[in-house]
Amino acid sequence: MKRILVTGGFGFIGTHLVERLLADPKNIVHVVDNLSTSPIDVRQYLRGLSYQGLIGGSDGVLRQGHVEGYVFTFDIKSVRDYFAQETLPHYDQIYHLASVVGPVGVLKHGGNILSEMVGDAYDIMNYCKRFGTRLVDISTSEVYGGGRNGYCCETDSMIVPPKPSARLEYAVAKLACEVALINQCNTAGLKASIIRPFNVAGPRQATAGGFVLPRFIKQVLANEPITVYGDGSAVRAFTDVRDIVDGIVRVMALGKNATVYNIGNPNNKTNILDLANRVQRAVTTTSQITFVNPKDLWGPAFEEASDKYPDASRAMEELQWQPKAGLNSIIADSIAYVRAARRD
Ligand SMILES: NC(=O)c1ccc[n+]([C@@H]2O[C@H](COP(=O)([O-])OP(=O)(O)OC[C@H]3O[C@@H](n4cnc5c(N)ncnc54)[C@H](O)[C@@H]3O)[C@@H](O)[C@H]2O)c1
Repeated sequence: MKRILVTGGFGFIGTHLVERLLADPKNIVHVVDNLSTSPIDVRQYLRGLSYQGLIGGSDGVLRQGHVEGYVFTFDIKSVRDYFAQETLPHYDQIYHLASVVGPVGVLKHGGNILSEMVGDAYDIMNYCKRFGTRLVDISTSEVYGGGRNGYCCETDSMIVPPKPSARLEYAVAKLACEVALINQCNTAGLKASIIRPFNVAGPRQATAGGFVLPRFIKQVLANEPITVYGDGSAVRAFTDVRDIVDGIVRVMALGKNATVYNIGNPNNKTNILDLANRVQRAVTTTSQITFVNPKDLWGPAFEEASDKYPDASRAMEELQWQPKAGLNSIIADSIAYVRAARRD
């Protein structure tokens, strides 16, 4: 049996990852999540896993629990509180996903993102060194700061734009964690690989963090204006969450130590205006596209991410990772999810 910890396992990517891990009967999965940005109703989600016997606290407040046979257990806790416990079980693998995230989601954390992210990373690195646990750290493609006109390869320099913002703090904090982690691999015996995902999209993504596809879907289904930020020319490569999860699992199994992997679908490179047009065409709606300044909506602290699309050849060649979902199918699946969630 393999004992696996997933931090942020009740998040958008985390839930898909947990399901993938639980599909292998050799895995025992534990989730640590403080539910600060989880997009799901956890009780309902847990009932949906094919395991029975889910438990909350005796007062009905969900704090920790398990499914029968203890194939899946969880703690509703911050990463910091979890790793501050005196005794901790042994894990063979840790996937570290817990983090503030999203263009809007990061705003209220500005000034504290670095301390929280780096603190969590050190707690996890120290645990991994002590127990010989293999770590996969989920970083971000925002570390590139725009790359070469949006093209981002792992061997490129990172660009720090002269615009301090919560978003920049998020990117710089993720990069600082990457560098510390690689140095600890090289000097202190840590066993770890890093993933830089590109614009993850698909079922369960929340609108709350400010993610563009769920926002467009919400707008077209409500026949409201589709609000494109700026002129809609920002370049992105949307990648299906299940393709991302496949990449994450492959990096854990096959990724080289102290190595960064872009996980993003270059075939889905597009711009935001094209995304809006595709979403508009995918449903019957009276919604029309309007162009807005996001700073009018979210205040002067809001920053749009730089253009970005991946060179994913390292993951494709070393891990045989091949993303499958095209952009229209990601849009269709996301719409179907939102419609089904509304019927519940
Ligand atoms: N969604 C994307 O497009 C994208 C792109 C690049 C990188 N990422 C990274 O992927 C990871 C997961 O992102 P997501 O989109 O699933 O976001 P999410 O907000 O849906 O998931 C994050 C989960 O972590 C939990 N969490 C946050 N801080 C925590 C803490 N300190 N302790 C315990 N739990 C905590 C939240 O409650 C949430 O359930 C993050 O590290 C994010 O930076 C996401």
